[in-house]
Amino acid sequence: MDTVRTVDALRTRISKWRGTGATVGLVPTMGGLHDGHLSLIRAAKGQTDLTVATLFVNPAQFALDEDLNAYPRDEARDLELFVAEGTDLLFAPDVEEMYPVGHTTEVHVQGLSQILEGEFRPRFFLGVATVVSKLLLQVLPDAAFFGEKDYQQLLVIRRLACDLNIPVEIVGAPTKREANGLAMSSRNQYLNERERRAAPTLYATINQVAESVRDGADADKRCRWAVSRLTEAGFRQVDYVACRDAETLEPVEDSSRPARVLAAAWLGKARLIDNVAV
Ligand code: PAF
Repeated sequence: MDTVRTVDALRTRISKWRGTGATVGLVPTMGGLHDGHLSLIRAAKGQTDLTVATLFVNPAQFALDEDLNAYPRDEARDLELFVAEGTDLLFAPDVEEMYPVGHTTEVHVQGLSQILEGEFRPRFFLGVATVVSKLLLQVLPDAAFFGEKDYQQLLVIRRLACDLNIPVEIVGAPTKREANGLAMSSRNQYLNERERRAAPTLYATINQVAESVRDGADADKRCRWAVSRLTEAGFRQVDYVACRDAETLEPVEDSSRPARVLAAAWLGKARLIDNVAV
């Protein structure tokens, strides 16, 4: 696996591949790799001929009071894992390469970016949508792979690719979980022993909400119950537990449409998010 750090070098490599007729898969990451990321590389390798991964901790998606400086960084370890999965090319730019002096353009996906995660992290999707648009345009892959753990992010990216006419298939891959149900996340590293024991309650709780809504229970009531259960389990703040339309993330109006239960809650220093289908 070669590592390139500039857009020019990336484009040169990819145009050579294109000349051979190969299809290209893109797996964007911020590093801190876990099995969830590796499953995206496996999915890309199964669906396209050549896989480009990216490693870039995107400052634009962190608010000033968030964990940009603490975010897990271990490039040597990540490189080994990328190689072991058979990644063909790694793009690992620095901040100046992605946001050169004078860079002012941002991509704002209205509506979808402003609810749920967007209410608690108002600039988050602006940063994600901007960097993912750039990566898609830099690589122009046939398909790009994102985890369903960040379900709202996946929908935002689908929307922007469609609205900006970027010719790419956005593929969502199932959430990878620990044996106890905890969704894998780079931020799980922030959890101490006690918090690790409490963390799987998030998945167990939203699963219970999804099951009872499927059986006809009132979604709002069940979401309120979930907040108290998480608080009792030691979560210090529950940002939201919500049952929403699986495509629009608007409140569910029509119970015959697919729905999703989504939640975000703080355990110590870690803000955990998770979601399940109803
Ligand atoms: O999900 C992530 O790791 C990031 O939000 C992404 C998609 C790589 C953009 O920085």
